[in-house]
Amino acid sequence: MLDKFVIKVLAKLEPELAHNLVLYPLKLGISAKFVKLSSADAARLKTRIWGLDFANPLGLAAGFDKNAEGMSAVLKSGLGFTEVGSVTPLAQAGNPKPRLFRLPQDQAVINRMGFNNAGADVIAKRLARFRQKNPRAGQVSELGRGRPKTALGPVGVNIGKNRHSSDALADYSQCVRKLAPLADYLVVNVSSPNTVGLRDLQRAAALPQLLQAVKAARHAVCKEFSPPILVKLSPDLAPGQLEEVADIILAEKIDGAIISNTTTQRPAHLHHGAVARETGGLSGQPLFDQSTRQLASMYRLTNGKVPLIGVGGIASGHAAYAKICAGASLLQLYTALALQGPWVMGRILTELAACLTRDQFHCVADAVGIKHRGKA
Ligand code: FNR
Repeated sequence: MLDKFVIKVLAKLEPELAHNLVLYPLKLGISAKFVKLSSADAARLKTRIWGLDFANPLGLAAGFDKNAEGMSAVLKSGLGFTEVGSVTPLAQAGNPKPRLFRLPQDQAVINRMGFNNAGADVIAKRLARFRQKNPRAGQVSELGRGRPKTALGPVGVNIGKNRHSSDALADYSQCVRKLAPLADYLVVNVSSPNTVGLRDLQRAAALPQLLQAVKAARHAVCKEFSPPILVKLSPDLAPGQLEEVADIILAEKIDGAIISNTTTQRPAHLHHGAVARETGGLSGQPLFDQSTRQLASMYRLTNGKVPLIGVGGIASGHAAYAKICAGASLLQLYTALALQGPWVMGRILTELAACLTRDQFHCVADAVGIKHRGKA
């Protein structure tokens, strides 16, 4: 009842205002638990990747908590992890409004936010404050007495470049130097469609150098804990380009990939003619098939050896399960949360646990990539 009422009210507001209203209580640290699982389901959903413990595989995708203001509240709500950013070295305002558009009949959103964020220094301070109170996921004993004994959940940091910067390598390296020591994992975002030229960094002529610069910067600043490095990819890469990127991931020993960011394509079946023509990245339901196919291809191309985070159009436990079977070790969502509210998280996780139980998987890890082995 309450969920339907809140969603109806939010749906009437200008989309960015509605987003900010949802974020406001999180910034104040006001949280509620939206995920209630039986102990059997909770045990089935636990997973461990890169030496980090995840209470469940579903996390918040980048772009929602751009400025690292709601980490505790997001994790307390019941998600398994969260990702802040994209963060750029300098603060920037992003594109002029309106820059966020709902397509409710398509269960989709188009955005051209353009990396509006508070900049690496401000975000590093917020992360440092969070770290003082919360141990790193998987490293429970590093804090002193009186501090929580268990981590709330991993916090990833997603980095990008400033719009007017002409030196992408310098921008990413600067973000790594400021943020890597505070991150559970780092994401090199080379796939947002709203920063001109950003997606060209996925090309074979640019990606190896960028990833080498990121690794060198991490090595220079991370002494005790070196966060894994992931690369976030576009769903619009052609098959040949995806092969190139997979080879680079393997050659550079990159720890993981997030598949995918938003698409600039517009499937013919979208209902909202005028809104669908807005410039920007499309997310939500219409992205599901495309991003899941891309995920499955990347799993095959990397021989199932590189952990993948599946994102794009997850709005049900069945969709979450399909991504896991296609090769995702972890999952993220954004649009379903924005359109259906936080109640969707509990529904997805309960349904996902039921899918695992039905197919007799003891844990998420057992089902990862099973589609490629002809069992699902
Ligand atoms: C995003 N996304 C995004 N991704 C990223 O790497 N950095 C960012 O700053 C943003 N910003 C952003 C803003 C808005 C308004 C949306 C809707 C999305 C992309 C997001 O993390 C995710 O990859 C896609 O939205 C696909 O997932 P969903 O939304 O279909 O679950």
